[in-house]
Amino acid sequence: MPLSPTHPLVDGRTTDSALVRAYRGDRPELTPVWFMRQAGRSLPEYRELRAGGDMLQACLTPELASEITLQPVRRHGVDAGIFFSDIVVPVLLAGVEVSIVAGRGPVLEHPVRSAADVLALRPLDPAALDPIREAVALTVEQLGATPLIGFAGAPFTLASYLIEGGPSKDQIRARALMHSDPHTWATLLNWCADVTGMFLRAQVEAGASAAQLFDSWVGSLSRADYQRRVAPHSKRALDHLRGLDVPRVHFGLGTDRILPQIAALGVDAIGIDWRLPLDEASAAFDHAMPLQGNIDPALLTAPWSVLAAHTDDVLERGRRAPAHVLNLGHGVPPETDPDTLTRLVAHVHGDRPEHD
Ligand code: CP3
Repeated sequence: MPLSPTHPLVDGRTTDSALVRAYRGDRPELTPVWFMRQAGRSLPEYRELRAGGDMLQACLTPELASEITLQPVRRHGVDAGIFFSDIVVPVLLAGVEVSIVAGRGPVLEHPVRSAADVLALRPLDPAALDPIREAVALTVEQLGATPLIGFAGAPFTLASYLIEGGPSKDQIRARALMHSDPHTWATLLNWCADVTGMFLRAQVEAGASAAQLFDSWVGSLSRADYQRRVAPHSKRALDHLRGLDVPRVHFGLGTDRILPQIAALGVDAIGIDWRLPLDEASAAFDHAMPLQGNIDPALLTAPWSVLAAHTDDVLERGRRAPAHVLNLGHGVPPETDPDTLTRLVAHVHGDRPEHD
């Protein structure tokens, strides 16, 4: 089924937005800008709304998830909202006991480590995604011409949390399972691809104008392992979007050695972390791939002149790509002064007061 006639990309609300144009490789006059993790603890209005409440419960309460998504759009004037949720939400909705511990991340009571653990995973009931559809629809209604980005975790990053039972430095248990029991590995990654793919499709059908797959921990893999044991599952997750004409974006950390393999997933734009200059990344795609990134999040606490010069350098290097969406190289650190982000958006949009 194609996008509905009332979808913002079909009725024209977001079709010509700077973000959608850039993802489609058509460089708009102003470089669009949004920030990964723009919603969240850097905002006092978020901390107030969330006070005492559970993170995942907030994700499943449509009015709350919608309001949190809108907060950074109102405050900073960014060119897109990113749906407030988490990569583990579809896993939770499929019945896996997972919680989010502040300052740590997703934690599982019973990690998934054996063939029996993997066989016990149940498919995701599409009806369980109703709160997600409702939250997206509410948000899109209020965003008007500003596009909403839907997102999902890539199968590898998701599987890493399931196997490790929580955040880990090098995903060593996950990589061990990949090699010691390739069959169980493939079964688990297919399960992850399907729950995450359904989560992503639900957001797009409900009104998201772009879809970003986060493979945050993919940097711990060799090129061969990525190609053989991971990329086919990322492709399977993206295949859930079949028939929907929506820009697809990939983001991972430490992806230098696998850029061609990422492009081969069939995405429209690729996010780059802060370690690889955008002109070099662009060369890896023969300057034919729209790029997103890649301000070093550490510089958000540097003096303004340092951050502004770094941003100008990123913009300059980004000109080598057919189009550029300015973002950070990873998420907004919680201690960031939100005024710095607002000022950065104005700077990127070319609003540079003389007294800068
Ligand atoms: O503005 C946005 O980007 C909104 C939505 C968003 C969240 N998580 C909300 C969140 C998105 C896109 C994510 C994706 C996500 N979640 C990723 C991929 C992107 C990345 O950062 O690499 C990953 C790896 C996760 C797993 C996860 N969830 C982590 C590592 C954490 C951080 C733990 C912490 O407290 O620092 C979370 C929790 C989380 N997800 C928070 C938010 C706003 C913080 C929870 C809180 O408010 O206490």
